[in-house]
Amino acid sequence: MELTLNNGIRMPALGFGVFQTPPDETIGAVQTALEAGYRHIDTAAAYGNEREVGEALRRSGLDRGDVFIETKVWISDFGYDQTLHAFDKSAGKLGVDTLDLFILHQALPSRFDLTIDAYKALETLLADGRVRAIGVSNFMSDHLAALLEHSGVVPAVNQIEVHPYFAQRDVQDADAAAGILTQAWSPIGGITAYREGGANALQDPTIARIGAAHGKTPAQVMLRWHLQQGRSAIPKSVRPDRIRENYTVFDFALTEAELAAIDALDTGIRRGPEPNQITLETYGREIPEA
Ligand SMILES: NC(=O)c1ccc[n+]([C@@H]2O[C@H](COP(=O)([O-])OP(=O)(O)OC[C@H]3O[C@@H](n4cnc5c(N)ncnc54)[C@H](OP(=O)(O)O)[C@@H]3O)[C@@H](O)[C@H]2O)c1
Repeated sequence: MELTLNNGIRMPALGFGVFQTPPDETIGAVQTALEAGYRHIDTAAAYGNEREVGEALRRSGLDRGDVFIETKVWISDFGYDQTLHAFDKSAGKLGVDTLDLFILHQALPSRFDLTIDAYKALETLLADGRVRAIGVSNFMSDHLAALLEHSGVVPAVNQIEVHPYFAQRDVQDADAAAGILTQAWSPIGGITAYREGGANALQDPTIARIGAAHGKTPAQVMLRWHLQQGRSAIPKSVRPDRIRENYTVFDFALTEAELAAIDALDTGIRRGPEPNQITLETYGREIPEA
């Protein structure tokens, strides 16, 4: 299943995430994902495993053009020249000449000038053909509005926390109104499992009941919910059985009533970092050279 971005580029809707995947497990995980059928990998400079993602890509024997590679600029590399150089660092570690999608990992609300300069560098990279599409992540509606005031290219994607317990409908609506594709991070509610302090979406009884009706697991039900609502989703696992499970979602469909029952689980409670509290002082860290 592919989605068409706002500049006509096509992207596999279901990607494979590698946040928190240790470098020494990344090659194996990404190779397993590519063997299972994934053709879209989501990494980030800040994940420290771009080199291993690139190595897995080469070992797979697949053509570069067959795999959609998405990565992110960390806030410490924001600024026009710094972000141009961040491309060289990421592309160098991945071992590729072009990126399919290059996005700002976060807005820097207290230094929005740097955020805009970083985005202008993405526009340059796009115009020069070094990246096929550009976008953002964790941008709230006001960040998007501020960015759109200063930029000539509407982001293709906004990657945000979306799972049944936190759907961010307001941001999804702002994305849709601007022609931006919403991409769900923690799409199977991973953050509700690995971060303490609340219910775990993977153990939700409504989701389990819907899964049982289709002979599918909770993770598969949540991924189907994203796909049927037009979102991209990028589940992560280091376990081969789960990597395959999370890709086996193209052989069933949820009913409208089931989609609505999952929509009704939204608690409005964010589990990831509050985007307005991201600062260089608290989250900044150096991204090594390629
Ligand atoms: N832009 C951002 O700020 C941001 C933030 C967070 C994530 N992301 C991206 O989104 C991707 C996915 O998000 P995420 O890693 O937070 O969460 P997720 O994909 O929703 O869930 C991953 C967690 O669930 C477990 N898991 C995976 N498949 C499972 C299954 N079928 N059944 C039960 N448990 C399963 C994984 O453990 P095992 O690995 O042990 O299987 C891991 O702990 C990341 O890898 C990253 O690429 C982006």
